[in-house]
Amino acid sequence: MPAALTLAEEILELKRERRAILLAHHYQESEIQELADAIGDSLELARKARDFEGDVIAFCGVWFMAETAKVLNPDKVVVVPDREASCSLVESCSAEQIRAFKQRHPDHVIVSYINTSVEVKAESDILCTSRNAVDVVNSIPPDKPILFLPDINLGNYVKQQTGRENMRIWQGACIVHATFPARRLTRLRSEHPQALVAAHPECPADVLSMADFIGSTSAIINWCVQNDAAEFIVMTESGIKHSLSKLAPHKRFHFVPNEQCNCSECPYMKRNTLEKLRDCLANLEPRVELSADLIQRARIPVDRMLAIK
Ligand code: 13P
Ligand code: SF4
Repeated sequence: MPAALTLAEEILELKRERRAILLAHHYQESEIQELADAIGDSLELARKARDFEGDVIAFCGVWFMAETAKVLNPDKVVVVPDREASCSLVESCSAEQIRAFKQRHPDHVIVSYINTSVEVKAESDILCTSRNAVDVVNSIPPDKPILFLPDINLGNYVKQQTGRENMRIWQGACIVHATFPARRLTRLRSEHPQALVAAHPECPADVLSMADFIGSTSAIINWCVQNDAAEFIVMTESGIKHSLSKLAPHKRFHFVPNEQCNCSECPYMKRNTLEKLRDCLANLEPRVELSADLIQRARIPVDRMLAIK
């Protein structure tokens, strides 16, 4: 009797049968990243999704990322291992709220972080990610007032980097990054005085003020790998350990646990498992389904962002 397939083998077989690509965000469990065709930050994964030529995109990340992939690929099937893989930023901001804001402030340019629902994207003028947010805001004529949403920390960071005064910022926050306490970073720095600090811009301003480098997940990885230092404190979700330890096995990386769970894991990202990935490829569910009208409206701000950087 032939030996039963392992879960990983089942997934790879289903992937071939379905003509699927497996995209994984850096915050996924290592075993998922190991099977992925591409691992990346949200901008890189959106580009991969746009350029894909098979039939099925299995998006191992959170739902808003898969919605973006669907907007860029309306004819493909896009599945996510767990339908509940959401994001606290998405949940902080509804399309009704944005429509009400636009009625009160019709002159504002709406700049939405990619961590928003597709309905919010459809109400937006342009999107951004943590990688290109400064360039996106700089692309808007200086006399135009801006509403930046929904992340307060990224918004404040962009405002500081661009010197933009006429920019309102939504009050949403990431439950992982916004709860990294600066005093824990201070303590870790005193224990590892040689370590450099790399931080994601969703961290609070007092954490960012201690950082030697601020950037997206992929930018943090590249910076740590290329930098001559041997030790780093990394202020983002601990899933990026996977690439860091593969690309720089001789370097040391420390993570700061947040106050809520005493870990540095995103509970939404970690809902995806190998079993659920196998099932979503087998059943083509949970599947992202969007109306043609929503896709058309959301595509405009997505394309404007992709044209910038
Ligand atoms: P990146 O675009 O840097 O991958 O960030 C996505 C995210 O959700 C950060 O919490
Ligand atoms: Fe959302 Fe934060 Fe999780 Fe990123 S880490 S998906 S911003 S909750």
